[in-house]
Amino acid sequence: MKRRVAILISGRGSNMAALIKGAAAPDFPAEISLVISNKADALGLETAKARGVKTLVIESKPFGKNRAGFETVLQTALDQHGIELICLGGFMRLFTAEFTKAWYGRMLNIHPSLLPSFPGLDPHGQALRAGVKLSGATVHFVIPETDAGPIVMQGAVPVSDHDTGATLSERILEIEHRIYPEALRLLAAGKIRIEGDVCKTAGGGPSENFLIAPVAN
Ligand code: GAR
Repeated sequence: MKRRVAILISGRGSNMAALIKGAAAPDFPAEISLVISNKADALGLETAKARGVKTLVIESKPFGKNRAGFETVLQTALDQHGIELICLGGFMRLFTAEFTKAWYGRMLNIHPSLLPSFPGLDPHGQALRAGVKLSGATVHFVIPETDAGPIVMQGAVPVSDHDTGATLSERILEIEHRIYPEALRLLAAGKIRIEGDVCKTAGGGPSENFLIAPVAN
């Protein structure tokens, strides 16, 4: 039986689209059963509908600071659709600690940096200001702290002296779209386990690729 997944979005939904595409493979151990947006005008809603995925809008704005009130409505929708796993894809609303604890080990997020570096807002700008030569993306389990939690998968890209926030985010987005479906595949197939604060992968090994930057000419 495929695991039933909900993707939560707030905007463009390109990671959502990558997950939907990945999950279309016949051997994929999960199906994208539902896309929920906390914003009615999220572009990703149209993409999801065009791919034949059921969508729901649960506006978070009317709840203001009442995070628990929003989450009660959200949880009801997740229950109604038999959702077992959640993927956050650019979902720009913080959860209560209670909600993240209830879904611990079953809720993934993606962030465009090599966590624990550069959590929070403007990770690309943070990376450029720090002058790192490699950056990337991280899929991790969600915990009460923002952009933290056991790391499931990371992908790295070189950062060049000529990069801007826009060029770096474009390069990292390509990596995001590759690793998010793979991380969900591992979770849905039961191939990862959490030991303390660390996530381990059954049969997983390091990739043989080294990435070194800069390359001097
Ligand atoms: C992605 O780059 C994702 O990593 C980031 O928001 C973007 C959403 O794009 N998430 C975070 O920064 C989480 N802290 P998308 O809607 O096209 O997937």
